[in-house]
Amino acid sequence: MGEVVIRHIEPSDRVTGLSLGHPEFAPLKAYLKKEARRHHEQSLARTYGVYTPQDDGKVRAYITLVAGEVAIKDGDEELVDGFNYKHYPAIKIARLAVDSELRGMELGRTLVRLAIGIAKDTICPAIGCRFVVVDAKRLSIGFYERCGFTAIDTQDNLARSEPVMFLDLHKLEVNGAAG
Ligand SMILES: CC(C)(COP(=O)(O)OP(=O)(O)OC[C@H]1O[C@@H](n2cnc3c(N)ncnc32)[C@H](O)[C@@H]1OP(=O)(O)O)[C@@H](O)C(=O)NCCC(=O)NCCS
Repeated sequence: MGEVVIRHIEPSDRVTGLSLGHPEFAPLKAYLKKEARRHHEQSLARTYGVYTPQDDGKVRAYITLVAGEVAIKDGDEELVDGFNYKHYPAIKIARLAVDSELRGMELGRTLVRLAIGIAKDTICPAIGCRFVVVDAKRLSIGFYERCGFTAIDTQDNLARSEPVMFLDLHKLEVNGAAG
């Protein structure tokens, strides 16, 4: 594969032809093609693409980040000891996709690590932000667990088609987040 580059997407990038396999992932392909650059330009989301030397500006994987929160629906789980909040500030992984051809090569984990690094080193010191959060597609729950995320442990959440999973930035050293 050669050395990959990870950077903000740019207007001249090739955003078509991402191959994701399962039809459930079609919206991730469409988002990259139709919305990612527009959202990026308008600061509605930030998308980071993965580029290989042989693909000449073609996006082969991407992650999209937005400001978000961890919402505790029934208020029965204390995510931070002593704070019975219903909303905790977070960075949200809004979208993540790796081309089928490049899966199993740590690109997904590298992009999640990038999100955690940005949250921990850039956002958290400047603005209150305790968690990284994602609405995880069922097929990717195991992946996020490997990256150190935990599903909110309520019946409601576990029954959702995309359960909310979170990672606590204050517990990174303890749980070895993102492998
Ligand atoms: C989920 C996805 C991003 C993983 O990307 P990837 O580059 O193949 O993953 P990595 O190679 O970085 O894998 C990291 C670890 O997670 C594991 N893993 C990867 N995909 C997994 C899955 N679907 N279920 C369980 N474990 C998985 C790997 O085996 C590896 O484990 P290790 O810690 O033992 O080495 C990719 O399969 C994908 O784009 N899927 C379709 C879209 C999607 O589901 N996006 C998430 C939206 S919320």
